[in-house]
Amino acid sequence: MIDQRLLPAREVIRTYRDYTGVAQAIRTMVIRGAPAIGVAAAMGVALGIRGVSGSRAQRRFELVARTLKATRPTAVNLAWAVARMRRVLDENPALDAAALFRRMRSEALAIYHEDLAANRALGKYGAELIESNPVTILTHCNAGALATAGYGTALGVVRAAREAGKQVSVIADETRPFLQGSRLTAWELRKDRIPVTVIADNMAGTVLRAGRVDCVIVGTDRTAANGDVANKIGTYPLAVMAARHNVPFYVAAPLSSIDLDCGRGDDIPIEERAGTELTEFAGQQIAARGVKTFNPAFDVTPAELVTAIITERGVARPPYGKSLAELNNRA
Ligand code: MRU
Repeated sequence: MIDQRLLPAREVIRTYRDYTGVAQAIRTMVIRGAPAIGVAAAMGVALGIRGVSGSRAQRRFELVARTLKATRPTAVNLAWAVARMRRVLDENPALDAAALFRRMRSEALAIYHEDLAANRALGKYGAELIESNPVTILTHCNAGALATAGYGTALGVVRAAREAGKQVSVIADETRPFLQGSRLTAWELRKDRIPVTVIADNMAGTVLRAGRVDCVIVGTDRTAANGDVANKIGTYPLAVMAARHNVPFYVAAPLSSIDLDCGRGDDIPIEERAGTELTEFAGQQIAARGVKTFNPAFDVTPAELVTAIITERGVARPPYGKSLAELNNRA
């Protein structure tokens, strides 16, 4: 894994050989982004059951699954990937340890490759939605190659639009407090030579009001069956401002991020992270010592503020209860 905590200053690759290392990497944000932590968790499960089979593998799986699922609660991709690995284990009770490990490893790699393919497919659907040329897209957090198996969801749409010949530029919210926008989104786009302008989160209203944004595109950690969207904290106020200024607000969501078992956004568990993310920066105290903090990592944008949800099987429009279920059932 590329250690995302150190970007953009340093590119350091870390290797994990056991599931506890993978769990620690997810918890501490070495790797982050819903699809990426799903892929990492699947690989963690494969590492976790290495060397065991039969009932020992079942028992080990319970421990590994519990440990990985406890790392970060909001992104459904993580639980989804672990459930998929469980099915493979359940379907192969007779395999010896070596064969079981090979089977589990190939399932984890399939999840990785499928995510990449899903991003490319949804990128194409998203690019078709974009009418203007040149086009300026406002995004929040990092829903790019770093957050996925590669290519990205929201940034997948950006990449696909450029591949389709559009002149695309991006405005990236810096995304307090972890700075996924300024550190990661800006880094990725610079590498791809896609023009990007970083703004502080509280400047989004100004650029929207000035007519400088053609559409907003964000990713999602979990989208409920009714189309309510959990994504990085700060997404909801962005959606409110986009609606205020009649700017389309799109969500790029692979089906692995859509939780049809979760009826509405209020049922999505929202992770709260340490207050030190707010009170300290690079080891420096930046808030009054001892002050109380509130640090939810995600917020929920009600479906009524979402113009469309872009998936690898096509674009869902309101009412999402119907359109998301239809896309899910489409072969
Ligand atoms: O806390 P993070 O950095 O894991 O949060 C990531 C996001 O909110 C992304 O927008 C989301 O996972 C979609 S990534 C394709």
